[in-house]
Amino acid sequence: FLPSLLRTRNMATAAPLAPIEEAKRLAAYTAVDKHVFPEHQVIGIGSGSTVPYVVERIMQQGREANKNRIFVPTGFQSKELIISAGLRLGDLDQYPKLDVTIDGADEVDSGLNCIKGGGACQLREKVLAEAAETWVVVADYRKNSSILGTNYAPGIPIEVVPFAYAAVLKKLHALGSTKATLRLAKMKAGPVVSDNSNFVIDATFPPEQMKDPSKLLRQIKLLTGVVEVGLFCQMAKAAYFGNQDGSVTIK
Ligand code: 5RP
Repeated sequence: FLPSLLRTRNMATAAPLAPIEEAKRLAAYTAVDKHVFPEHQVIGIGSGSTVPYVVERIMQQGREANKNRIFVPTGFQSKELIISAGLRLGDLDQYPKLDVTIDGADEVDSGLNCIKGGGACQLREKVLAEAAETWVVVADYRKNSSILGTNYAPGIPIEVVPFAYAAVLKKLHALGSTKATLRLAKMKAGPVVSDNSNFVIDATFPPEQMKDPSKLLRQIKLLTGVVEVGLFCQMAKAAYFGNQDGSVTIK
């Protein structure tokens, strides 16, 4: 369980991280150092396995820096992460404007467009991205792509109302999707259900369509039953990728 990563990592005695974890850590630490300043008091915390390193670095800014800060989560996992770190939890009703949100990504292209929603959190993630003055993404080198969908992400995550999922699957194929499937829980025990009680479809499209993610986003979003699409177009101020050699690529 992700928050335990934060709870158990004693910086003085911790064993070295596996290379991919070290890449995530590097990206997260660099993004925090460059974007989270003392005057930032309302901070959005994204989802995924890279984000605990964001929280870890923010905590390293010290008790005083975090005393009055409010942290707004993108979902259940980041809520648990904030609570387990002993940070102050807030929600968007109280804090509709965030100073900065840092989140993970499944893939980022050369125009800073992203695929997100590997953890089925794309709706809340997009709300927090839009609410933030600055939205920044952090990832390891596998997510650094020139054309979305060609490197790492197994399709575009699309949150749908359960009632409409079969109809949306059909419409996605008509739109050009090469493969669109309902995301199933582990052991195929049933559909994955999002924090908003919806289902998630993963849909792949040919590179010709992925080259224009804004157009594809508009097309998918118009399908009745679609709640949100895991394409985040022209929203990121910057993207940080930790590399295998210990360097960080900044886009
Ligand atoms: C969850 C997300 C995550 O941010 C994305 O899947 C990246 O996760 P990780 O840091 O584990 O690679 O969009 O919905």
